[in-house]
Amino acid sequence: MKEQVVCKTSDLQPGEIRESFFGKKNIIICRTQNDNFYAFMNQCIHQGAPLGKSLLCGATTDESTPGDYHYCHKDEVIRCPWHGREFDMKNEGRMLANPDKKLASFKVRIENEDVIVYK
Ligand code: FES
Repeated sequence: MKEQVVCKTSDLQPGEIRESFFGKKNIIICRTQNDNFYAFMNQCIHQGAPLGKSLLCGATTDESTPGDYHYCHKDEVIRCPWHGREFDMKNEGRMLANPDKKLASFKVRIENEDVIVYK
């Protein structure tokens, strides 16, 4: 199994995203508000945008109606900077609008302060 320390936990605040490398692969590391870490390829599956430039955001709930929006999953959704496709990091990077499609993802674990990515 290949694994690598890609950054320290203190390199990201909750709700932040950061670019790094796993071997030669350009990846992103995301930290949720409740301090879970996720890693994905730094490339949108639509047209290849660098997801390290994304915003982490939330999603609207099913109770939302036009003009009356309710939000959930704060900072758990990666919104692509080019065309706005959204990916749920807690659901394997699946696209919200089409869950059959998902980002390439990597496993992450924390040891002491190290963020370790592995396959
Ligand atoms: S490149 Fe990401 S939505 Fe188009």
